[in-house]
Amino acid sequence: MIIVALDPPPHADPREWCSKIVSSVAGHPSLAGVKIGLPAIVSQGLGWVKGVLEAVEGLRVADLKLADIGAIMRIVIERLASAGFDAVIMHAFVGDEGALDEAVDWCRAHGVKAIAVVSMSHPGSAKFIDKHTKEMVEMCRRLGVWGFVAPATRPSMIKLVRDLAPDSRILSPGVGAQGATPGQALCAGADYEIVGRAITRAEDPRKALEEMAKLQREALQKCRVDT
Ligand code: XMP
Repeated sequence: MIIVALDPPPHADPREWCSKIVSSVAGHPSLAGVKIGLPAIVSQGLGWVKGVLEAVEGLRVADLKLADIGAIMRIVIERLASAGFDAVIMHAFVGDEGALDEAVDWCRAHGVKAIAVVSMSHPGSAKFIDKHTKEMVEMCRRLGVWGFVAPATRPSMIKLVRDLAPDSRILSPGVGAQGATPGQALCAGADYEIVGRAITRAEDPRKALEEMAKLQREALQKCRVDT
């Protein structure tokens, strides 16, 4: 399953650009949802987002990678939920007391899916974040997060999260433009692969999504036979 990351290039009108991609990929059976992040929101705020998200069946993920005190995260999450998002990505490294505990409680009380980053797709993640992945997953499970972000570029980190959190969702970015191949993260235990540029910058995003989904299916078949 694929979540399409809608990150408009500089100078594009975010509403127009996102709407065009959404209308291309909408209804595809392998589309699990979309993710909108800072590139789109800092350029034009949140006012336009609802109109785009209304056309999306499936997850509507806000990726601001929140990392603040609880009181502030709650205000931001409330606004994101009002704009139509039903899932919010936040950093686990801020810790529980006075930060994640309040944010996750708010999400649980309001039907918003809290997703915690416990490892990242860029090489620098190994320097700090990855050294604490295990503790962060355990803490987040105690708080009741819905899911985790773990990188498709390092399947060993996905396996670690899956072992520690067998019932949680795992979302994996890093497929395509960042080097991971489609299906690699699913084989390691992820539920969703997040794909941005490899789909959104393609001439025909739906065709690119279809091709990615086909490669995912082939990889899954192969890794199931190998294990
Ligand atoms: P591309 O174009 O590289 O886009 O397919 C990837 C998308 O995923 C986001 N991203 C991450 N999000 N943890 C996250 O929570 C990560 O480690 C990570 N790596 C990439 C990126 O912002 C883009 O939207």
